[in-house]
Amino acid sequence: MKNIKAIIFDAYGTLFDVNSAAEKCKDKIGDKWEGFANYWRTTQLEYTWLRSLMKRHKDFWQVTEDSLDKSMKAYKIDSSMRNELLDLYKILSPFEEVPEVLKLLKEKNFKLAILSNGTPSLLNELVKSNNLDNLFDDLFSIEEVGIYKPDSKVYDMPVKKYNIEKDEVAFLSANTWDVSGGGNYGYNSIWVNRNNNIFDNLDYKPQNEIKNLKKLIDIIYFFNRKGKMTKGQRAGNSAIAVEVEKGKSYYWCACGKSKNQPFCDGSHKGTEFNSVVYKAEETTKKFFCSCKQTDNQPFCDGSHNKK
Ligand code: LAC
Repeated sequence: MKNIKAIIFDAYGTLFDVNSAAEKCKDKIGDKWEGFANYWRTTQLEYTWLRSLMKRHKDFWQVTEDSLDKSMKAYKIDSSMRNELLDLYKILSPFEEVPEVLKLLKEKNFKLAILSNGTPSLLNELVKSNNLDNLFDDLFSIEEVGIYKPDSKVYDMPVKKYNIEKDEVAFLSANTWDVSGGGNYGYNSIWVNRNNNIFDNLDYKPQNEIKNLKKLIDIIYFFNRKGKMTKGQRAGNSAIAVEVEKGKSYYWCACGKSKNQPFCDGSHKGTEFNSVVYKAEETTKKFFCSCKQTDNQPFCDGSHNKK
């Protein structure tokens, strides 16, 4: 396996929450908002595949409008909501961990890009409205090749532009069919399984499945060390108990050099390590790893007892 040189992200559903437009209108739409949002998304994707097969291309914004019209009829949603839903679709929110992970990857000098069905102007607005525009080297839109994912012409774009091998790309998507598409093409596809879904039977099984992007940094280093994950230096030989407060974020030291164990004091600067963020869901006692050998970062898994 080659070293990873470029990290390419799908946009809709992977970096940006496609349900957030309907969710923001849930007071007006009522309990059916989620069923409606899923129906809209499914119809939108079906239209992309069908139009590619029929060779009747329309851009993603037109497909989004067409699929919204059908979905509003199916869910009996008042037509006065149409413009509001479309406007919100242009500024979908990113998933919570996305900005921070992108910033960390950018510091590590990987090529970072989006590869999406979205039109160039949609993608531009999406990253600008969320202050993410400085983080990407490229926003690849399928409009450049005039056919939707999973056509191989789409996955070809970054490989050609960066002049790299297919397996020097880590491709991330939450859409199982897109993971299969990129994987069959030759990418190292990573599945962002945000909703505990079941994977496809489409001749590709991703080597890595993650719940969100937080684990991505470890995985990239794992690839680049040909399967050997590096761990930080031992900073202690037992777990450190900390009373964590609900809603507060804690930055665990992964490199082992911090003088403020178990937390980061910035000593990893210039190394391959980064702190690991943990946001407490409740006020309780947690046992943080100090030996840095745990496989359950940032918490102790008993590894300090192993020699
Ligand atoms: C995209 C769709 C597949 O961004 O989510 O390309």
